[in-house]
Amino acid sequence: MAIRLGVNIDHVATIRNARGGPHPDPVRAAQLAADAGADGITLHVREDRRHVREEDLFRMKEEVKLPINLEMACVEEMLEIALHVRPHACCLVPERREERTTEGGLDVAGQHNTVAPFVRRLRDAGARVSLFIDPSLVQVAVAEALGAPVIELHTGVFCEAVEEGDAAKAAEALAALQRAAEDADRRGLEVHAGHGITYASVGPIAAIPTIKELNIGHFLIGEAIFVGLTGAIGEMRRLMDAARSGAPAPKS
Ligand code: PXP
Repeated sequence: MAIRLGVNIDHVATIRNARGGPHPDPVRAAQLAADAGADGITLHVREDRRHVREEDLFRMKEEVKLPINLEMACVEEMLEIALHVRPHACCLVPERREERTTEGGLDVAGQHNTVAPFVRRLRDAGARVSLFIDPSLVQVAVAEALGAPVIELHTGVFCEAVEEGDAAKAAEALAALQRAAEDADRRGLEVHAGHGITYASVGPIAAIPTIKELNIGHFLIGEAIFVGLTGAIGEMRRLMDAARSGAPAPKS
């Protein structure tokens, strides 16, 4: 079964915000991503609006033909935005003001009572709710109990190990991803994965057959500086599809 690619365009807005003007426009990037073969667009409106803002989300919903996946913290302000915009999917993520990026998954086991009303209210509004969690069996079990139909597994530890060339750490992290994905799939949850994925780390993750979607941002936007967004997305797609089919990736 084919694996979907969600392109996270947050960091187009990071570059835009560096100068305060409208360029580069993340909505234009999302349209280009759609033409290049992305299956969805992901964006994270953070409390500090360090990259995309709600105006970007509003325009994205109006002007982009792909399903929109809004990453959001479990706070009332974001819930109101989500209920107003009604994106296709909402992914609940942890958020700490001082962090550089989302450093780990949402601790749904430890924060069950905080997360539960957000899952319920988003589901009641018709959003496809996903929980961004670490690849742990406890987190998967609680995600199921919370009634979320989708989980997204945090791939950061595996990707970091690949970047560092630490084979033992990478093997252990990959095994954890495989176990969590299989367990979630058995429970009837749809499994997505993301964070820190590059050309070097995408293959083993995409080869896990129970993972249905990858969400990739920073690396694609960075690589686009060198080969354009169309080229970067095309190459990522090619590597994903090759890993999924079990064939060695042909040279581009
Ligand atoms: N998935 C989730 C839930 C995220 O929070 C992020 C980062 O915003 C990503 C995927 C994409 O991570 P990266 O930008 O490292 O590819």
